[in-house]
Amino acid sequence: MSQKIQSIRGMNDLLPADAGVWQHLQSVAAQVFSAYGYRELRVPVVERTELFKRAVGEVTDVVEKEMYTFEDRGGENLSLRPELTAGIVRAGIEHGLLYNQQQRVWSSGQVFRYERPQAGRYRQFHQLDVEAFGLAGPDVDIEMIAIAARLWQRLGVSGFRLQINSLGTPDSRANYRAALTDYLRSHEAALDEDSKRRLGSNPLRVLDSKVPTTREIVAAAPSILDHLDAESLAHFVSLKAGLDDLGIGYEVNPRLVRGLDYYTRTVFEWTTDQLGAQDAVCAGGRYDGLVAHLGGAPTPGIGFAIGMERLIALIGLQNAAVPEHGPQVYFCRFGAQAERAAAALAEQLRDALPGLRLVLNAGGGKLGAQLKRADACGARFALILGDDEAAGQKVQVKSLRGEGEPVSIGWPELPQHLAQRVGLSA
Ligand code: HAM
Repeated sequence: MSQKIQSIRGMNDLLPADAGVWQHLQSVAAQVFSAYGYRELRVPVVERTELFKRAVGEVTDVVEKEMYTFEDRGGENLSLRPELTAGIVRAGIEHGLLYNQQQRVWSSGQVFRYERPQAGRYRQFHQLDVEAFGLAGPDVDIEMIAIAARLWQRLGVSGFRLQINSLGTPDSRANYRAALTDYLRSHEAALDEDSKRRLGSNPLRVLDSKVPTTREIVAAAPSILDHLDAESLAHFVSLKAGLDDLGIGYEVNPRLVRGLDYYTRTVFEWTTDQLGAQDAVCAGGRYDGLVAHLGGAPTPGIGFAIGMERLIALIGLQNAAVPEHGPQVYFCRFGAQAERAAAALAEQLRDALPGLRLVLNAGGGKLGAQLKRADACGARFALILGDDEAAGQKVQVKSLRGEGEPVSIGWPELPQHLAQRVGLSA
């Protein structure tokens, strides 16, 4: 036997037993997003490396250390997308979706980051991403947060902590950066090595250091909220009032700075204490300079992304309801006549009951073997058709889960009977 080939570390398979919750999340999310007028946009998994460098920022962990970058056979420098926003903005500019208009879009799919894999942190993971363009006011910031809140509610997950902050404009941020750098320099000797390095390149990132000694220093650092320009401050005040109006609880965290460079003004993060260290389930913010930075006309933007693996872990931990998705009915057939009749009958049942999930036995086998397969696939009912039943145009309906005695049903009555037993409308 040849040696087995293993999957890549940090990249997971989705097995059939887990597919139901993914489908459920995708369909509920699509419903919630469209309830706010957002439409789907899909962008490629691979883009030019330059796009992410420019959008996410050269001095970010994502670009410096985490991108899957390669040269293709034509010598182009490409990267697997580490997030969706950059590609969406690129596509929006390229297709003229952003110029002088308002645009509400969502997207989802795989993203790739070369991080150290651990529970809740993967190298290939999935994001659900929502973005709005051409809207500069706090009203759409409130809408963004309301969308996420509605999604939690529709999925039946709870216990989140919503943190918000404002990073101001590039000018006000530069002022803050100077004040913060002065402060951190005065404590430089006590900072951890990583923070010392960041002090020169990206001092705001020192604010979310996890190192306890650095955190102590950061606790007394100047607050970004004391350095906001008047408009950013008014924007932030309106955002808070709007969240209050909707009854969405939040905490202001002046140390929330986010790991991507494109943000301006509002940033936010939904975290949970139920997932250990990888506690951010959803995060985002405003990026009013990004469209112009990527070559479009100046257009405000705001959005967020949900880590699907983390949200699904939470759905599991909280036992939130997920609709059944496995087969409901297994159709056993034996004998030449019955095999052919069953194939036609199975198609008729699928015609009559579009929600029905029915497996038609394939590969022959004795009734006992077929019933074992029926049980193994999780079906609630077996349909049994031998040549005798076929001759009488009947089928036996047998519960596999102790829901009453077997009954013999005429073919014409079968759709109605099954609809009732599995809870579908015929
Ligand atoms: P982000 O905070 O880098 O933001 O990622 C968003 C979410 O993706 C995180 O909150 C987390 O749930 C999930 N996530 C991140 N890294 C991993 C990983 N290695 N494994 C599993 N899940 C992970 C963005 O990507 C921005 N593009 C969000 C945004 C959209 N901002 C504006 N529009």
